[in-house]
Amino acid sequence: MKFSAFLVLPVAAQAINIVISNDDGWAEINIRELYNCLTRAGFNGLISAPAENKSGTGSSDEEPEEVGEDGCEFASCPAGSPPYGKSESEPRFNYVNSYPVTSMRYGIQNLSTTFFQGPPDIAVAGFNVGTNLGIVTSISGTVGAAVEAVKEGVPAIAFSGSTGHQTAWNAPLQPYMTIYADLSANVTQTLTSSGKPYLPEDVFVNVNFPAVNDRCHSTSSFKFVFSRIYPAVPVFTPDDVETCGSKRLPVERSVVKNTAGCFASISVGNTDKVDVDAELQAAVLEKLKGILSCLPEDEKDARKMVL
Ligand SMILES: *[C@@H]1O[C@H](CO)[C@@H](O)[C@H](O)[C@H]1NC(C)=O
Ligand SMILES: *[C@@H]1O[C@H](CO)[C@@H](O)[C@H](O)[C@H]1NC(C)=O
Ligand SMILES: *[C@@H]1O[C@H](CO)[C@@H](O)[C@H](O)[C@H]1NC(C)=O
Repeated sequence: MKFSAFLVLPVAAQAINIVISNDDGWAEINIRELYNCLTRAGFNGLISAPAENKSGTGSSDEEPEEVGEDGCEFASCPAGSPPYGKSESEPRFNYVNSYPVTSMRYGIQNLSTTFFQGPPDIAVAGFNVGTNLGIVTSISGTVGAAVEAVKEGVPAIAFSGSTGHQTAWNAPLQPYMTIYADLSANVTQTLTSSGKPYLPEDVFVNVNFPAVNDRCHSTSSFKFVFSRIYPAVPVFTPDDVETCGSKRLPVERSVVKNTAGCFASISVGNTDKVDVDAELQAAVLEKLKGILSCLPEDEKDARKMVL
């Protein structure tokens, strides 16, 4: 037998294993576009998401059941399908006929074993149809899925975007989809490039994108701003991490609604879905600082804006 030079394989960088879930359902186009974008960026991904639209179901969790008479969303599986299923053409696209939390856990505990021979390195949820800001994070299935991953010991990011409505996976791509997917991949890559551990224990990152419109029309028009989930209570709330010349972070809602630019908010929450202390904020800030911007000077009053 002749040995070919091709037997000497190049030492490939180890791909990062990622579980992707959401609350809009496994057949919604955003999650597919995020998968495609992360795959192009070199991630080794799989989708484990609800069979149906489970928007607004927070951290609900139930044993999956056989699919009912309406079938999966967007006719993506027939009535009477099993509680767990996958795409015929792409076994990495999996549904769980239950909640975001349930599907995220199945992705981490079960599908990861099959596809990655172990737990994933990181998990992401989204990007959601509609923002998940402030108090809405408490009922968001997207945030619920990310927090479940964190509870399973897997660092996680929740992504949500202002523009769009629920759309089937096979509909034509619209600009907002590719822009939000690119921005999500950017944050994910920035975090993973920072090295392990990607995040401190028991924290998740909540990322929200403002609208895609005539003003904010390409990936490069967006900037990332470090923020808080909830407004600080004067006197009572301890200082945030010091950045952009202040010990008080802007509230994520005010960042996303700020029309002086196209600002995406990046907040850090714990498994109770509330803001973490300055020390934990600092640890995440350090990892993401390469992509973070400050709000324009005259916009800093936005910090004081109430919920
Ligand atoms: C998905 O569910 C949410 C919450 O129940 C609802 O507001 C939304 O209209 C649903 N979307 C579709 C396309 O049915
Ligand atoms: C998923 O994995 C867990 C942990 O190994 C196991 O207990 C559970 O039965 C598995 N679930 C399914 C549906 O296979
Ligand atoms: C990621 O986002 C930052 C900040 O907006 C930008 O400077 C950088 O070019 C982006 N990187 C990629 C790969 O898109």
